[in-house]
Amino acid sequence: MTCLKASKLTFLLCLLISFSWVRSAHPREDFLKCLSLHFEDSAAMSNVVHTPYDSSYGSILQFSIRNLRFNSSDLKPLVIVTPTNASHIQAAILCSRRHNLQIRIRSGGHDFEGLSYMAAVPFVIIDLISLRAVNVDATNRTAWVQAGATLGELYYSISEKSRTLAFPAGSCPTIGVGGHFSGGGHGTMVRKFGLASDNVIDAHLIDSKGRILDRASMGEDLFWAIRGGGGQSFGVVVAWKISLVEVPSTVTMFSVSRTLEQNATKLLHRWQYVANTLPEDIVIDVLVTRVNSSQEGNTTIQATFFSLFLGEVDQLLPVMQESFPELGLVKDDCFEMSWIESIFYTAGFTSNASLDALLNRTPRSISRFKAKSDYVKEPMPEIAFEGIWERFFEEDIEVPALILIPYGGKMDEISESSTPFPHRAGNLYALVSSVSWSEESKEASRRHVAWIRRLYSYSTTYVSKNPREAYVNYRDLDIGINNLTGTTSYKQASIWGRKYFKNNFERLVRVKTEVDPTNFFRNEQSIPSLSSW
Ligand SMILES: Cc1cc2nc3c(=O)[nH]c(=O)nc-3n(C[C@H](O)[C@H](O)[C@H](O)COP(=O)(O)OP(=O)(O)OC[C@H]3O[C@@H](n4cnc5c(N)ncnc54)[C@H](O)[C@@H]3O)c2cc1C
Ligand SMILES: *[C@@H]1O[C@H](CO)[C@@H](O)[C@H](O)[C@H]1NC(C)=O
Ligand SMILES: *[C@@H]1O[C@H](CO)[C@@H](O)[C@H](O)[C@H]1NC(C)=O
Ligand SMILES: *[C@@H]1O[C@H](CO)[C@@H](O)[C@H](O)[C@H]1NC(C)=O
Ligand SMILES: *[C@@H]1O[C@H](CO)[C@@H](O)[C@H](O)[C@H]1NC(C)=O
Ligand SMILES: *[C@@H]1O[C@H](CO)[C@@H](O)[C@H](O)[C@H]1NC(C)=O
Ligand SMILES: *[C@@H]1O[C@H](CO)[C@@H](O)[C@H](O)[C@H]1NC(C)=O
Ligand SMILES: *[C@@H]1O[C@H](CO)[C@@H](O)[C@H](O)[C@H]1NC(C)=O
Ligand SMILES: *[C@@H]1O[C@H](CO)[C@@H](O)[C@H](O)[C@H]1NC(C)=O
Repeated sequence: MTCLKASKLTFLLCLLISFSWVRSAHPREDFLKCLSLHFEDSAAMSNVVHTPYDSSYGSILQFSIRNLRFNSSDLKPLVIVTPTNASHIQAAILCSRRHNLQIRIRSGGHDFEGLSYMAAVPFVIIDLISLRAVNVDATNRTAWVQAGATLGELYYSISEKSRTLAFPAGSCPTIGVGGHFSGGGHGTMVRKFGLASDNVIDAHLIDSKGRILDRASMGEDLFWAIRGGGGQSFGVVVAWKISLVEVPSTVTMFSVSRTLEQNATKLLHRWQYVANTLPEDIVIDVLVTRVNSSQEGNTTIQATFFSLFLGEVDQLLPVMQESFPELGLVKDDCFEMSWIESIFYTAGFTSNASLDALLNRTPRSISRFKAKSDYVKEPMPEIAFEGIWERFFEEDIEVPALILIPYGGKMDEISESSTPFPHRAGNLYALVSSVSWSEESKEASRRHVAWIRRLYSYSTTYVSKNPREAYVNYRDLDIGINNLTGTTSYKQASIWGRKYFKNNFERLVRVKTEVDPTNFFRNEQSIPSLSSW
């Protein structure tokens, strides 16, 4: 572009454009100076602003890394801001804009690809760890939950107020509500109550101009976009208002494992016809892993059928006998408990641990992993599973796993366009494949990532097509090209955009273009703004 024969107007435009690309020689210092104007004193600022020269920086950065694959990444932020007040977020946004720094927003840090804390450009992390109050209104059956709260903190706070109130969201208690609710959020009550995002009724969001908006002031388009469109594209969510759901005071769980020798493949095949047509009070998830058979040390595959039923065991058994007799469920496999105990049990805690373990933000275990998601619309034939098992048996990979999450029920009743999350009627289940490993080497990483890409390629025939759908909360940078600069073209974006959002992608782009025309809030898979191209 040349400004040589420009009129005054285009000259100014060119100036504006080139100005926005000037990088400061001292971006960190300029950013800090700008921030300091927003704090009353340096003591107030030092509690909230962390640079590599502070001893707090390393521990805060590392604390919420939930995929060890990225634990020793060089792509570190210039500054981490841990706001304790919305005004700190406003200041961080304004100062990042002014000094051309990208921001990354982190709540629970579970992003599969580490996008909430890594970038290949100069950037600042806004880490919401200190904004995590949960305010439960049991009378009105609502709660305000700040974005930095974890699911464990939310569930625990609800259980302090009532044994029969609950919230339908994911199973892992260290997940942050900031990322989770903005991408959907499915868990053990998804067939009865839908996604976490389906139960959000208001939100506080800070936009690219630094304005604090609620549902009324942001308008229904933007409120639609942040409930399933994925975090980071539209602003910083500070808090959600959610509608709580009612559950019986006694629920029932079971966990039944079967190996290949115990007909696991046949059961899994049958499960595909049953799980999404059961009464919506029952969710039976399946976890498939490779294990040693108990007798001999022979390696085998094991499918664990893991279930939450919103009712008592005597109601559950006849239903299971009628619909899924092959599983051979007996009363001894079942445990009655309260809903919060079911959360606790699902999270893998043993019964003698205290419930407040749900408040612990450090996961019980953490690994290096790569995962991918699919949606299955026609039952897969047994031979398809057998092909997957062959790959599971390959010796040079550590921990392969499949997780199958049944839909149907409430998920079938919500239209594809009512929120950005489009995977509704017609999906039997979500299929997650993952591989995790402990060896810290580039070679181990390469080998395991290559393995799961081969598995993904093998599965193509059996899963959704045109597009091959995927769940945005199970982020996968393999879908669409990227280079960690947070810049993608519209054409690239529409590749993963259609997989995650189907036809809702266009509406997301319209909303983005309207509310963040300069594409300030971005990452490798954020919604593109048309006006920035
Ligand atoms: C071990 C594990 C178990 C999981 N189990 C489930 C499950 O049972 N069900 C399920 O549905 N999903 C599950 N997930 C996926 C999980 O829902 C997503 O990774 C989710 O996005 C995590 O949210 P977070 O706040 O913890 O992550 P973060 O890494 O903090 O954020 C994820 C994304 O959201 C953005 N973001 C975060 N906070 C905000 C905010 N306040 N405002 C705007 N954008 C924000 C980030 O920038 C990033 O792009 C699991 C993930 C892991 C690692
Ligand atoms: C992550 O890296 C930090 C240092 O960068 C190290 O101290 C820590 O032990 C690592 N965590 C794990 C679980 O390996
Ligand atoms: C943020 O600071 C303002 C002004 O001091 C105060 O009114 C408000 O209550 C604070 N908010 C939070 C969440 O602490
Ligand atoms: C319930 O909501 C109503 C209307 O929003 C409000 O007036 C009332 O105070 C709420 N109840 C409680 C217990 O907070
Ligand atoms: C597996 O299935 C076969 C026939 O379908 C049956 O004969 C056998 O008993 C089953 N094995 C187990 C362990 O259930
Ligand atoms: C493994 O299984 C086979 C037959 O299924 C059996 O012959 C063998 O003894 C078992 N044990 C070992 C250690 O291979
Ligand atoms: C499986 O059993 C063999 C032989 O007992 C043992 O060497 C191996 O470590 C076991 N593997 C796992 C994953 O338990
Ligand atoms: C809980 O019980 C298990 C075995 O029943 C035991 O190994 C564990 O140490 C106990 N944990 C606590 C916190 O008491
Ligand atoms: C990253 O990709 C974008 C979009 O294709 C491109 O414009 C940019 O130059 C790339 N950056 C690097 C460092 O390769």
